[in-house]
Amino acid sequence: MNVYDSEQISKGLKPLQYKMTSSPEMADLIIVNTCAIREKAEQKVFSFLGRLARLKRKKPDLILGVGGCVAQQEGLNILKRLPYLDLVFGTHAIGRLPGMIERIEAKKCRIVDVEMPEGIDESVFSVDTEDRDRVASFVTIMQGCDNYCTYCVVPFVRGREASRNPEKIVGEIRGLVESGIKEVTLLGQNVNSFDKKEGLCSFPELLSLINKIDGLLRIRFTTSHPKDLSDDLIYAFKNLDKLCNHIHLPVQSGSDSVLKRMNRKYSSDYYLAKVDKLRNICPDIAITSDFIVGFPGETEDDFNETLDLIKTVQYDDIFAFKYSDRPNVPSTLFRHKISEQDKKDRLIELLKSQEYYTKKRNEVLVGSTQSILVEGLSKKQVKTDANSENIHQNIQWTGRTSTNKIVNFIPNNDTSFHDENFSGRIINVRIEKALSHSLQGIPTLDSRFRGNDII
Ligand code: 5AD
Ligand code: SF4
Repeated sequence: MNVYDSEQISKGLKPLQYKMTSSPEMADLIIVNTCAIREKAEQKVFSFLGRLARLKRKKPDLILGVGGCVAQQEGLNILKRLPYLDLVFGTHAIGRLPGMIERIEAKKCRIVDVEMPEGIDESVFSVDTEDRDRVASFVTIMQGCDNYCTYCVVPFVRGREASRNPEKIVGEIRGLVESGIKEVTLLGQNVNSFDKKEGLCSFPELLSLINKIDGLLRIRFTTSHPKDLSDDLIYAFKNLDKLCNHIHLPVQSGSDSVLKRMNRKYSSDYYLAKVDKLRNICPDIAITSDFIVGFPGETEDDFNETLDLIKTVQYDDIFAFKYSDRPNVPSTLFRHKISEQDKKDRLIELLKSQEYYTKKRNEVLVGSTQSILVEGLSKKQVKTDANSENIHQNIQWTGRTSTNKIVNFIPNNDTSFHDENFSGRIINVRIEKALSHSLQGIPTLDSRFRGNDII
């Protein structure tokens, strides 16, 4: 979500003649877009701002702004604490940012804007038709969250849930496709409650509308709250050809007592039943999840129940985090906090128990042929190419399966492959090797004749 917001910020500043620089030293304006989800993310913001202070001393006309969730949370406090900052703007102020920058340029004033008006500011969402290098793009479909999980800062910093108009979303995606985008990832804190308040169309209906957009090859979305995962959405995976075979379904814990205190509104049995249904209807679907370890009062037994759940589900991959207190959220006041050492130990143990399944789920793909949407040259390759005389030697491309697994491939010995630009195409790749977080393969011969068709 922050990546998408940053893109919208930079697009909004283009009419003011700002464009991206490759290093902070070259910039006349620096906007730090921040995340408040965990303590560590917030600490990073302040240490980064400390480094920018030195830059500002050397270049006093540099305009320095802080946006995003930490800005929303701290507001005026940041401006008081950091005298070298010019601007603090919250999560609902992106549309007002160009005006603020103009005022700062003209009057050399300092500004705080953390207002959170109800509803969605559509002026924020725009398509950059000049940006033709990318294959995939994020698209925000809703903002805020009304779920109030007891550990989570999102409802406080991103406000009440509000959905964008479905036609506007479809319009934005059409524009993206015209500019060369082949895959969109729809963003919302809980996409299952899309349009619940507005009542124009449900999330599965929105997916059907997007599925009809010519030229779009793939649709992904995140995040889905297990309590609201409907049968209609489960069937959408089966029925919509462009909807990718992957769901991120954060469980957070395998213990019912912890889930209750987290206010997640489901039990582990309920969650497991949803997983079963997903797999019954779409046997190949990849499932990933988020976990928090060391929630206040989490006992060894609770933690073992989480390990059991991991063994039962056998996820494709997981993200796991040590619990951290956040300002204003209820769990900050909960008793029986877990020590830093125990949180660390549990995190290591949890990640280790998943490692085996991540690898296993990759290994079963060895020998199979997978449809890959190619995103470009792999990062490793881009680096070596800079110093290489013959850039066509062993070029390595990277893309993803529908199940969101990264596949790197080097075109095979048939030399005509070497001149081909695979970017933005869906091609067939035979998987040769499974690594812990990616796969390696070779394009099959039929890939050469597929052009941009959907396979
Ligand atoms: N401490 C640790 N992890 C958290 N998350 C959200 N709030 C906290 C917190 N206070 C995690 C959850 C969520 C992911 C985006 O971040 O797992 O799904
Ligand atoms: Fe936070 Fe997600 Fe819970 Fe909303 S549903 S409060 S964003 S963890």
